[in-house]
Amino acid sequence: MCGITGIVTQDRNDIGRLLVMCSRKLTYRGYDSVGVAAVHRGKVYLKKDVGTIDEVDARLGLSKMPGDRGIAQLRWATYGAPTQVNAQPHYGCTEEFYGAHNGNLHNYYEYRQELIETGHTVRSWNDGELCVHAVDKYYEQTGDMFEAVRLSTRDLKGAFAYAVGRADTQEIYAVKMGSSLVAGVAPTETIVSSDLPSILPLTNRVVYLDDGEMVVLRPDSVKVYRVEDGKELNRPVQVSNVDPHAAEKGGFPHFMLKEINEQPQVARDVMGLLHSNESEEWLRLIEDASHIYLVACGSSYNAGIVGTYYFNRLAGIPVTPAIGGQFIPMYARTLTEDSLCILVSQSGETKDILNVLKLVKREGLGKTLGVLNVIGSSLMFGADAYIPMGCGYEVSVPATKTYFSQTVIFADLAARLGARNGMLDQSEADRFVSALRDDLPRLTQETIDRTGILAKNLAPTLMGEHDLYCLGYGLTDGVAREGALKIKEICYNHCEGMYSSEFKHGPLSIVTDNYPVIFVTTTEDSWMVINHINEVACRGGRAIIVGEHEDSLTPYVKSKTDYLVVPKSEVLINPILDVIPLQLLSYFLSVDLGINPDLPRNLSKTLTVD
Ligand code: M6R
Repeated sequence: MCGITGIVTQDRNDIGRLLVMCSRKLTYRGYDSVGVAAVHRGKVYLKKDVGTIDEVDARLGLSKMPGDRGIAQLRWATYGAPTQVNAQPHYGCTEEFYGAHNGNLHNYYEYRQELIETGHTVRSWNDGELCVHAVDKYYEQTGDMFEAVRLSTRDLKGAFAYAVGRADTQEIYAVKMGSSLVAGVAPTETIVSSDLPSILPLTNRVVYLDDGEMVVLRPDSVKVYRVEDGKELNRPVQVSNVDPHAAEKGGFPHFMLKEINEQPQVARDVMGLLHSNESEEWLRLIEDASHIYLVACGSSYNAGIVGTYYFNRLAGIPVTPAIGGQFIPMYARTLTEDSLCILVSQSGETKDILNVLKLVKREGLGKTLGVLNVIGSSLMFGADAYIPMGCGYEVSVPATKTYFSQTVIFADLAARLGARNGMLDQSEADRFVSALRDDLPRLTQETIDRTGILAKNLAPTLMGEHDLYCLGYGLTDGVAREGALKIKEICYNHCEGMYSSEFKHGPLSIVTDNYPVIFVTTTEDSWMVINHINEVACRGGRAIIVGEHEDSLTPYVKSKTDYLVVPKSEVLINPILDVIPLQLLSYFLSVDLGINPDLPRNLSKTLTVD
């Protein structure tokens, strides 16, 4: 949530253009409001408003702002409504100071009051403004910007990062205190940002920061210091091999459609990564654990549900799936030195997941294995080991290819663990792993091609349906939940994902004539799912089916459009493919409804708050 970008140039005068170009790549982090503070000839100019970066730029001309340094912020509102006054960056008491933050200040109300009582002019209800005032306060005491920024962190509680500057100093200062922050060194400028994509348009030479660290940008240098005592740290510049064009649409109308279409390549790439030398360590971590928790949020959690079924089915390994934010109250006291938390997070920055990581590390309660997509994320640095999802950047707010990759990862690991512990014949495991490696990319492509047309035709028939269910059974449990999440997230329709045999325990009462219920099935479970379909169909409900073609299922759909037929594959691959028509259905429905699926309202891709 929220993205900050600070740039210091060597005598350039087009800071607005640079900040807009780079910040645009952080749009997925927030699009409630946008602002730019630009320093031009020793004066700070601030423009900000409600809307996406493109809208506000068109309205206020952000990219035309002159200056040689400045800070931009894209906001996902938490403290303070998404209004112009609460948009970031902010001034301090005077227009000398400017700055913006990402994260949440937990002592916001007390500190705001304290600042007002000591004479500060606080203009907004946004916690980011307090970061600038805190620096302003300590500058008054010390007369030194470096010390003021360092000391300001002592007043602020929570998890956050902020960037600040002063009209009369050429530096920009930024601190990382629990939220992501990375710096870059380009030939004619230096940059600090909440995330790598906004650095890459200028440079691939990056400096990673840790919590409790502070970075000072000068026109030709980036220096890192420890916040606690101001000691300079020797931090090497690393060359990132992330493709800067990954964050472009490449001819597709939306990132979401592009990312769905990248899934065949993801299947290839992730299988390559899963069979690298590091995989022995991942398998050992799982084998050595006395109890395994699979902790994740949103789509990653849904993939974790699919994974839990794979671990049981293929390896007889009990795994407890847990929602990130629920883990500590529900399971923290059950952790032991031998537990393993598999922490699954596309961004590797989700606060609910990092809270679990911190607890496990602080208390020495077992090991952690990250499953993540963003290289250089906090989860990557913090976990004992990590499995990369190998998806490249996922820009669209709805997760698609990363969810897909996660399910492949769990399927592959479970099969190999099953072979090692004797739950699965070695030949069976080898056959399944070969199918994942050799057949899955082609099957994924076929699924996109075939079900794309079917989903496009089905979408208009669901335009008026504001309430529906998506049910799965066994291995498709998590798939149905994921389909429902996609429809909620980008179509703004209520769609509940649940276990199909649970439907009769209450929700069935909602079914009347033509009430739509989507059933997701594998060929192995369709005999059972038919019972659940019957319970809906005999009450006049409309069954929509996702799965392979089966003669036994065809009588239950009222029209051909209501059967999203996926290509034939072996049963354990069915759940990996079944999600694709649901991704496509939600995509086409969203577009038909006039929604931009990449940027659904109220959301942010990276949720770095509790
Ligand atoms: O980065 P993470 O995988 O930790 O994100 C978790 C969820 O916020 C995320 O999957 C969210 O549910 C998606 N936007 C859903 O499409």
